[in-house]
Amino acid sequence: MEKTFLMVKPDGVQRAVIGEIVARFEKKGFQLVGAKLMNIPREMAEEHYGEHKERPFFGELVDFITSGPVFAMVWQGENVITTARQMMGATNPKDAAPGTIRGEFALTVGKNIIHGSDSPASAEREIGIFFKPEELVEYTKLI
Ligand code: CMP
Repeated sequence: MEKTFLMVKPDGVQRAVIGEIVARFEKKGFQLVGAKLMNIPREMAEEHYGEHKERPFFGELVDFITSGPVFAMVWQGENVITTARQMMGATNPKDAAPGTIRGEFALTVGKNIIHGSDSPASAEREIGIFFKPEELVEYTKLI
């Protein structure tokens, strides 16, 4: 079953939209297989965002993601990687369609509420950074 890593960022946690975001993925039909509210250590943030290391906003990105608790999740389901990104909307909320998570809840690219893996390789890497295998549940009866 395809899995993806999704994370409500510090702005989403502080604005109390965890429940609404989780509800959207649940109602869509995806299954939550792991979740934790956590503060990200700086080294973990640097590893997670390693591909952006040379970007001018890297420092700002790491400062922001470590500025308060995040809600890290693993979801599974058919085409969950692509569909979750469609549900999130464009990375820059100014381009995110109305009805998407960023379209509804975010204004700026730096504080865009949610992160989601962009490919199967990223999903595997990011799940491995945030979760131990035993922290993920298995559903015996799939609907
Ligand atoms: P995310 O999906 O978490 O992956 C990388 C993040 O970098 C992205 O969401 C944005 O929040 C952030 N980002 C992209 N461009 C900029 C920018 N110009 N300034 C600040 N942050 C950015």
